[in-house]
Amino acid sequence: MTAALDDPAFWAGDHVETELARLRLESPVYWYEAGRFWLLTRHADVLAVSKDPATFCSSKGVLMADRDRTVAAADSILYVDPPVHSRYRKLVSTGFTARRVASLEEQVRRLACEVLDAIDPDVELDMVESIAAPLPLLVIAELLGVPASDRDQFRVWSDAVMEAASQITDENALLALELMDYFTTALQERTDTPRDDLLSVLVSAEVDGDRLTLGEQLGFCMTLLVAGNETTRSAISGGLVALADQAEQRSRLVGDSTLMSAAVEEVLRWVTPIAAMARTATADVVIGDEKIAAGDYVVMAYLSANRDEAVFGAGAASFDISRSANPHLTFGIGEHFCLGASLARLETRVLLEELLSRWPSYEIRKPGERIPSTLMRQRRDVRAVMSP
Ligand code: HEM
Repeated sequence: MTAALDDPAFWAGDHVETELARLRLESPVYWYEAGRFWLLTRHADVLAVSKDPATFCSSKGVLMADRDRTVAAADSILYVDPPVHSRYRKLVSTGFTARRVASLEEQVRRLACEVLDAIDPDVELDMVESIAAPLPLLVIAELLGVPASDRDQFRVWSDAVMEAASQITDENALLALELMDYFTTALQERTDTPRDDLLSVLVSAEVDGDRLTLGEQLGFCMTLLVAGNETTRSAISGGLVALADQAEQRSRLVGDSTLMSAAVEEVLRWVTPIAAMARTATADVVIGDEKIAAGDYVVMAYLSANRDEAVFGAGAASFDISRSANPHLTFGIGEHFCLGASLARLETRVLLEELLSRWPSYEIRKPGERIPSTLMRQRRDVRAVMSP
């Protein structure tokens, strides 16, 4: 019997990885009748589907929760298919060039230090609330050019927008509208007086005489909050838990900074902040031994792809910071490959560097629990003491 694959509790439960391993072996392209979707668990299949947007489109939904609601391309770049996607992507990419992201390192380090300076190392804290959540939020606020005086309100708005992505209520919808108003005014200000921030890049971005509409600029700002906050929070908190669990690997990392890049990649593979994303088949097609019909919903389990023994070997189910080849699919792949991947890597690395240089033997007292979700792999209430 297969677990309830559309149940948020399954994805947060203790058996999710064993169950996915069983599916990879016995039924890698699995039709889940109760949810009426296919679940792909092999790395090779997730990769192939992600790289074929003509046969597997995003415009009918990309989240498991999207099955129960109508999505519109105007909501987010995530729902846009080529060729329109290529145009949109080219325009917003100007805000995320490698040079631009690399130039943020100093700012990210300053913000990471600000977060860590606020911690009393002798007092037990919740690592998610005190460390993993504030950094991505501060980075996005700074990136967008939100002034320090608006930060507290920005957090309230961001939390509401993230909540609305999985369940809309009157309250979070109202707060999301307030944030749209805030961005509309800010974008207008940048049109009149450009500054050195992402909002100014969005209003002035131009490729072959083409520009983003105000709707696209706004949609993109909102997407950044949903795509860049909780994901990076999950990578940081999950990484801190994994390194504390594997104290010997953590000591090696503290003693040898050349291990850091590989360690960040392993944290990203191990944590896999987004468990799965979906596509819809646009034509009848065969994957593995199964016939997929046009219109079928196809869920790609990144978590399973990232544990696939065919790619990561016999040690796929172990955390190993010295793993050399690490082609994880944590950021997706293909047209929609995460636009913030370099930024997320930068934030995770800088936070680990700064935290480990202060508190190399921090202690997790309670690893907290996973929050039930079919999308986000996120812990809450990770109790820790930094100077045990
Ligand atoms: C560890 C942190 C992160 C993870 C695991 C993650 C994961 C992903 C994944 C899996 C996708 C592909 C979706 C698909 O194929 O349908 C994606 C897309 C995207 N991500 Fe990230 N992300 C992270 C951080 C960020 C950050 C920091 C930002 C920006 C501040 C960001 C912005 C975006 C955007 C704009 C897209 C849409 C790209 C497109 O549709 O062309 N992400 N992300």
